[in-house]
Amino acid sequence: MVNKKTRIAVFCSGSGSNFKALFHALKVKKLNAEIVLCLSNRLQCGAMEFAHQNSIATVHLTEKQFDSFEAFAAAMVACLKERQIEIVLLAGYLRKVPEAVVDAFPDKIINIHPALLPKFGGEGMYGVHVHAAVIDAGETESGATVHFVNKEYDKGRILLQRKVPVLTIDTAESLAARVLECEHTLYPDALEKLLAEQKS
Ligand code: GRF
Repeated sequence: MVNKKTRIAVFCSGSGSNFKALFHALKVKKLNAEIVLCLSNRLQCGAMEFAHQNSIATVHLTEKQFDSFEAFAAAMVACLKERQIEIVLLAGYLRKVPEAVVDAFPDKIINIHPALLPKFGGEGMYGVHVHAAVIDAGETESGATVHFVNKEYDKGRILLQRKVPVLTIDTAESLAARVLECEHTLYPDALEKLLAEQKS
């Protein structure tokens, strides 16, 4: 008997390079899971475009569409439940996931952060700010972290982490590019680990 594939939603706000890497890796690694939804706070972005091109359902959801944050959060939970989503992967989603969603999907939401958490995480630590802070601190290594999402920014249990060197000639941009390349293999590996953990 063939096991039913785990249904995954990916949340994105930008270019979606991690989303693309995850989509391809699911096929290459032959994982028993499929991305069935791309949810974004932006109607048009690289991630949404990629989803359309690959016949993945999309949902554009922002707080502005609702009278209250609670209504927005309830709509997000309903959207995930309706589609029988089992795992949520945050891939460059630049909004805080509402607590109601975290509560509805305990240990089912993971995020990728472009640094070695617990260092260089928390509010304001996103994009180029992370890499600039790493260089300013004189670190000789950085990397990326995949972690569970809980109610505090970047504080959930670490699932997988991988290091990259920081070179003396690095700028925040060159370091960002090296870390992003690492993310594209780290995130699929972390997903594989999560799926294996959930099976056992
Ligand atoms: C990545 O660096 C990720 O770590 C961070 O946002 C960026 C998303 O990039 N959370 P992309 O949209 O996947 O290209």
